[in-house]
Amino acid sequence: MLPLVVVLGLFFWPFIDRNPVRNPIKRPAALVSGVLFLLVVFSLLGISFKNLYAVPRVDPALVRGRTLFSQFGCAGCHRIHGEGGAVGPDLSYVGDKRPEREWHLQHFRDPQSVSPGSFMPKFPLDDKQLNDVTSYMLGLKRIS
Ligand code: HEC
Repeated sequence: MLPLVVVLGLFFWPFIDRNPVRNPIKRPAALVSGVLFLLVVFSLLGISFKNLYAVPRVDPALVRGRTLFSQFGCAGCHRIHGEGGAVGPDLSYVGDKRPEREWHLQHFRDPQSVSPGSFMPKFPLDDKQLNDVTSYMLGLKRIS
C-alpha cells in the first residue's frame, strides 16, 4: 500500500507542485521530504545488512561431516530426526549424550575400544574426515 502511495505521489507531483523556484533553500517541504526519503532508504539498507550478518554461520566442517554421513551409509543403521535405520542408536541428539570430541574420534577409529561388543564397523576415514564427522555428531543437539 505504502509504496503505491509513494509512486502515485511521485507521478502526480508535477501537477501538484507548480512552484517554478529551483533554489532548495526556498523549497523547504521538498528538501525535507527528499532528506526523509534518503533517511528511510539508508535505514532500511542498514537494517537488512544487520540482519544479513546476524544469520548464523554454519561450521563448514559440520557440513562436510553431514555429507560423509550419507556417503558412508551411516543412515543405514542410525536414525536422525526420523530418517534412517534403527539398527544402532538414534543420533538426533548424540551431541548432548556424548559431548566429548575425543570419545567420538576414538569410537570412529575403533568402536569396540570404547563400546565393548559393538558391531558398528570401522570406517576408512582419514584424520580430516574423522574430524568432520565428529563435528557433525557434536552439533546434533537440542537447541538450548
Ligand atoms: C552396521 C550398523 C552401523 C553403521 C553402518 C554405523 N553404525 Fe554407528 N553404531 C552402531 C551401533 C550398533 C552402535 C552402538 C554401539 C557403539 O556405541 O558402538 C553405534 C554407535 C554409534 C555412535 C554412538 C551413539 C551413542 O548414542 O552412544 C555414534 C556417534 C555413531 N554410531 C556414529 C556412526 C557414524 C557417523 C556412522 C557412519 C560413518 C555409523 N555410526 C555407522 C551401528 C552402526
